[in-house]
Amino acid sequence: MSLENHDLGKGKGVYISTYGCQMNVNDTERMYSLLEMLNYTPVNSADRADLIIINSCSVREKPVHKVHSEVGRYRTLKSKNPQLKIGVGGCVAQQEKKNLLKDVPLLDFVFGTDAIDQLPQIVNDLIQKEEKVVEAKFKHSEPYHVETLVRNPGVSTFVNITKGCDNFCTFCVVPFTRGRERSRPLNHLVSDINNLTKRGVKEVTLLGQNVNSYLSECGANFAKLLETLAKDTDIERIRFTTSHPKDFDEELVGVMQEWRSKIMDYIHLPVQSGNSEVLERMNRGYTREEYIQKAKMILDIMPGASLSTDIIVGFPGETEAQFQETLSLLEEVPYESIFSFKYSPRPFTKAARWEDPLSDEEKSGRLYRLQNRHKEIAFELAKKYENTVVQVLVEEFDADNERATGRSTQNKLTHFQSSKNLIGQTVSVQVTEAFPQTLRGVMVL
Ligand code: SAH
Ligand code: SF4
Ligand code: F3S
Repeated sequence: MSLENHDLGKGKGVYISTYGCQMNVNDTERMYSLLEMLNYTPVNSADRADLIIINSCSVREKPVHKVHSEVGRYRTLKSKNPQLKIGVGGCVAQQEKKNLLKDVPLLDFVFGTDAIDQLPQIVNDLIQKEEKVVEAKFKHSEPYHVETLVRNPGVSTFVNITKGCDNFCTFCVVPFTRGRERSRPLNHLVSDINNLTKRGVKEVTLLGQNVNSYLSECGANFAKLLETLAKDTDIERIRFTTSHPKDFDEELVGVMQEWRSKIMDYIHLPVQSGNSEVLERMNRGYTREEYIQKAKMILDIMPGASLSTDIIVGFPGETEAQFQETLSLLEEVPYESIFSFKYSPRPFTKAARWEDPLSDEEKSGRLYRLQNRHKEIAFELAKKYENTVVQVLVEEFDADNERATGRSTQNKLTHFQSSKNLIGQTVSVQVTEAFPQTLRGVMVL
């Protein structure tokens, strides 16, 4: 179907609600861009929409239930406007496929994570043929050749570099909802990022479930990709997420240190557990000791870099003693932030078949203890920024209060007073007050 001058969406509004990770946030942007080509107008409230899409996530608790209840809220809208079409995309769509149409009768269409680029065709079929549509096949045999689609890129934007995941951690649904891992070619990424810088983008965050297993058709690995982007493009700042500890090696840290002016010194390195036996059962591919060794190697080569992590408590069979090892890991690795979750069984995964005797109350207790200890540590660690000078890329400006906000290289949200609009500029800020997630300071020359 040709997208040019297509007026399927003329005079119609589209509303997309987004759950889950940054990949979904980026996919939503892609969906809006594709629908704008059909002349749909993005609206920021569902009651003004003729097309509603739920971009769903199934990584943790009750994802199908969330889709149910959101669609339920649109029941009256649908009775007022019988032309209203409601669809589900993202990971729940991929996981449930046509079952979703059965479970949620108000739905008109379901499209999987590999079907985003077919969205114009799907919407066209839906409207022309007036029948429900399901499109949820993986396109494993096709190369991953997509260009970043973003409507009004800000100072900072996301760029997908890989899709899918082949790691099959035993708790995780992602390999089943995103399919096999594929990488975009290096030369496509260079031209994509050059195009974004021409549109005013100063910072890109490279996205993938496991960015550091990136492998271009030409043989370039992730370290080579970072080096090439730093050398051969005009992008000022490069971030990436998520990297897997088993693939984080000295070559990569070496490139990050060499190009520290462009590659940001913040690394999200999900550990999941501090106990080697649990890690083995999670199929993570490293032990507690190996992980600690990697974290030390990173901080030795890149002194002052900032680390964060993901942790799951209450994995099937996790004993109190094993949980204590996760707690004690916090004393060994200086995480500036952690994202921690209670284990929940996911469909298709190995761990979902294992006994999970720990009560929800006990899991909550472990989560609480972990988060509480980390809170104290984070306050302590934040102090190191006080009276230092950080480099901040300004992303927002509040003219009324003369306040500018941006991120430091270590990914801390930083506020400072400014009478000028400095959006898009990188400035030096002397930190006067430091909290775990935010810094306050004054601009210095
Ligand atoms: N690709 C990333 C993680 C993607 S999912 C990585 O490998 O680190 C984001 C986080 O959700 C995971 O790091 C994990 O901490 C959490 N998570 C995934 N599956 C989970 C489950 N079944 N129960 C609880 N938390 C889970
Ligand atoms: Fe899930 Fe593991 Fe892949 Fe991350 S690396 S997406 S946790 S299977
Ligand atoms: Fe969720 Fe899918 Fe992302 S399960 S975390 S939206 S990859």
